[in-house]
Amino acid sequence: MKDQPQSPGNQVTRRLLGSTGLEVSPVAMGCWPIAGMTSIGVNDADSLATLHAAIDSGINFFDSAYGYGANGESECLLGKALADYTASQRRELVIASKAGMHWEPDGARKFDASPDRIASQCDESLKRIGVDQIDVYYLHAPDPAVPLQDSAGAFSDLLQQGKIGCVGVSNLSIEQMEMFMTECPISVVQPPFNMLQQQIRIDLIPWCQRHDIAVVSYWPLMKGLLAGAIRRGHTFAGNDKRLTYDVFKGAAFEQAQGLLDDVDTIAVRHAVSVVEVVVNWTFNQPGITACLCGAKRDWQIKQSASAMQLKLGQDELDWIDRKLV
Ligand SMILES: NC(=O)c1ccc[n+]([C@@H]2O[C@H](COP(=O)([O-])OP(=O)(O)OC[C@H]3O[C@@H](n4cnc5c(N)ncnc54)[C@H](OP(=O)(O)O)[C@@H]3O)[C@@H](O)[C@H]2O)c1
Repeated sequence: MKDQPQSPGNQVTRRLLGSTGLEVSPVAMGCWPIAGMTSIGVNDADSLATLHAAIDSGINFFDSAYGYGANGESECLLGKALADYTASQRRELVIASKAGMHWEPDGARKFDASPDRIASQCDESLKRIGVDQIDVYYLHAPDPAVPLQDSAGAFSDLLQQGKIGCVGVSNLSIEQMEMFMTECPISVVQPPFNMLQQQIRIDLIPWCQRHDIAVVSYWPLMKGLLAGAIRRGHTFAGNDKRLTYDVFKGAAFEQAQGLLDDVDTIAVRHAVSVVEVVVNWTFNQPGITACLCGAKRDWQIKQSASAMQLKLGQDELDWIDRKLV
């Protein structure tokens, strides 16, 4: 069994996750990279070390999904890591997963949010993670072939059965969320949000605030682009799938580089990494409860977690905001 997390983990101030009563660290660990589907050089030993490092650094919130890995690799690794902790240590952790997306044997991604599929994926995820209840369970994305109310009904059933603690949704429009809520309450919403993608400020964040729904954002580091290591002239490995994203190319890439030049100024002043400034800015934005930082190595998640110790002045946060306009 693992020792109690050491300082600075014990000093992390947790935040209430909307109206759920759960308390989470503002930096959460995103468990997509350890699935090894798009990240390069992933292996079980490093992935487990990354999960342990997250806990040791004060992160208590973990985000996985049924579809993170062709065969649930991410949830299985999470389950393996959790087995190293005592029951009382595990009670401190908040585990989130998602249903509604899986990979077909031919490698095609499939969104299937039919009630039967949601129920069977939840049962399988409970076994993989090795828990009796998944604290936060999201609909990963809408399935155009299934009425949203039917998907929502399946989540409502899981709530009543006690298999999940509360319900979240991801990648739904506000109209779709309102439809979902006719059958099942939503406690958490998971949208993309980072320095380069701030569309949710316009309508989604105010809507969530009106409904007391927590916002847990993904892509704070824009898949590594905002982590500071990928600079002008970077040579991407041939099998790096990030090149399929527009933001890693052309004018969008150059815009990100200009932004990193500005972030460097603050990072140097505080003698911290770019990651710490970017992550700290992200979880300090109004309406954001926590941000999901993906990692496949222990040093990466430790750096993201260090953002919870950084104190940026309001003038510095405002200065960054002005640069982002
Ligand atoms: N609901 C949804 O539809 C949805 C969609 C996407 C993501 N998510 C969730 O959000 C999480 C975050 O998204 P993400 O993992 O795709 O991207 P991210 O957090 O924006 O970026 C993570 C990547 O940044 C790089 N990185 C991390 N720390 C670093 C450091 N200290 N220095 C240099 N590079 C560093 C690593 O890439 P390399 O080491 O490979 O360079 C890592 O894989 C996911 O893990 C998942 O839990 C949800």
